[in-house]
Amino acid sequence: MEKIEIDSGIAPFPKPAVLVGAIVDGKPNFMNLAWLTRISFNPHMWLMSLRNTRYTGRGIKEQGKFSINIPGADLVVKLDYCGITSGQNVDKSKLFDVFYGKLETVPMIRECPVCFELTVFQIIEMLDRHLIIGEVKHAYSEERYLTDGKLDQKKINQLVYTQPPSRYWALGEGVADAFSVGKELEK
Ligand SMILES: Cc1cc2nc3c(=O)[nH]c(=O)nc-3n(C[C@H](O)[C@H](O)[C@H](O)COP(=O)(O)O)c2cc1C
Repeated sequence: MEKIEIDSGIAPFPKPAVLVGAIVDGKPNFMNLAWLTRISFNPHMWLMSLRNTRYTGRGIKEQGKFSINIPGADLVVKLDYCGITSGQNVDKSKLFDVFYGKLETVPMIRECPVCFELTVFQIIEMLDRHLIIGEVKHAYSEERYLTDGKLDQKKINQLVYTQPPSRYWALGEGVADAFSVGKELEK
């Protein structure tokens, strides 16, 4: 089939839909974030891209620490709300049941099946963005989201975000085991 040129401004790679949390002006604030990726295993580093006007970003810079919370599909309304309202104008601190872990001042969301505490490793200022590299320090979940001691995607029921269309999706069935199924061609 012949290829035709399409809009190059799209990003057709699903991203995890997460909520980033930080203390800003003395209270917890959460924002929706799609542009997140892992960049190192050891140490365990993640990179996220924030527009430099984000209220949450101010808290991250000031505190040097933040959280990443993975919501299940049941939290989609609050997740989206945190992407269309800013803590600059709206108090988002009462939206969730907030808890704190070992870093003591990193707000996390009890309703989220998985939550991470990170410290800021580096912030790169680029165009209108802050590229924030965080080092993952601690992770929290509950027995009910694990199978044989490991996180179970089916139980978490997390969301991914696409653009286009600008939409949240639940994960479907797993297709094949990574680092494994390709071995069929080695035979
Ligand atoms: C689906 C979705 C994904 C988003 N991803 C990002 C992102 O990756 N980076 C970013 O800076 N803003 C992103 N936003 C926008 C922020 O969540 C939004 O501006 C929010 O109001 C910021 O809240 P705050 O000002 O309280 O920090 C996203 C919004 C939505 C709805």
